[in-house]
Amino acid sequence: MSTKNDRQDSADEPDAAPPQPSRRRFLQSAAAAAAAVGAAPHLRAQTQTPAAPPPAEVHAPVPARPVTLTVNGRAYTLQLEPRVTLLDALREYAGLMGTKKGCDRGQCGACTVIADGRRINSCLTLAVMHEGEAITTVEGLASNGALSSLQQAFIEHDAFQCGYCTPGQLCSATALLNEFRNGTASTVTADVRRRPAQLSDDEIRERMSGNICRCGAYANIVAAVRAVHEGGGQNSASGSSAISNGSSNNRVNA
Ligand code: FES
Ligand code: FES
Repeated sequence: MSTKNDRQDSADEPDAAPPQPSRRRFLQSAAAAAAAVGAAPHLRAQTQTPAAPPPAEVHAPVPARPVTLTVNGRAYTLQLEPRVTLLDALREYAGLMGTKKGCDRGQCGACTVIADGRRINSCLTLAVMHEGEAITTVEGLASNGALSSLQQAFIEHDAFQCGYCTPGQLCSATALLNEFRNGTASTVTADVRRRPAQLSDDEIRERMSGNICRCGAYANIVAAVRAVHEGGGQNSASGSSAISNGSSNNRVNA
C-alpha cells in the first residue's frame, strides 16, 4: 500500500524512473520477514510430536553360581551372582556383619578387610575375584577369645566412640603394621629408596588416611597404633600368619 508521501513523490516527477520503495517501507518489510523466520522453528516444534525414546536394553540375569571364600580360616561356599561385591557377600550371604558398609563407594574405609595380606575396600571389589584368597575380617582378629594387641590398644586408648568405623580401622591398622615391618614406603616417607626408619605419627596418619572416623577419634587411633608398634605388638589374630606373609603393598581397591 502506497503512502501519501509516495503518491506526492510520483505526482511531482511524472517522467521519473519507476518509484523505489521508501526507507520506511523497506524497514517494515524486513521486520516482518525476520519475525516470520524467528517464529518458524516454534511453529514446527508445536506441530511435531516428540520422538519416542529407544527401548531399554534388557539383559538376561546372570545366574548365581557357587563361590568359595576362605574367611578367617573357614571356607564359605556361597551362591553368588557375579555382580555381588565382597562386602555384600560377607555381610548378606556369609552372615559376617562385623565388616561395615558406610559409603559403598570406596570413600570411607568402613568396609576394609585384608585379602592375602593386603587391605582392600571390600565394597569396591567383586566376591568372585577373591576365591582362593585368605580373607581376614574384624571377626578374625581375635584368637581363641583373646583380643589382638591392636584391639586391646583401641580399648586402652579410647580409640572409638560410636564404633562404626572401628572394624575397618582395626583391619587397616593391622595390615599397616605388617606393611611397615615389610619396609613399604608411604607418600610421607622421606627417602622411598630406603626402609622407613620409624613409624612416626605422620606415617600412621598418612597410612590410615583411607579410614574416615566421623566421631573424630583420630588422635586416639594414632596413639593406639603407635603403642602397638612401639611395644612390638604382633597380632595374635587367627589370620595373622596370612597377613604377615602377604604383600607389602599399601591399600588396594580391587
Ligand atoms: S563402604 Fe565406604 S569405602 Fe567401602
Ligand atoms: S568411632 Fe564413630 S565413626 Fe569412628
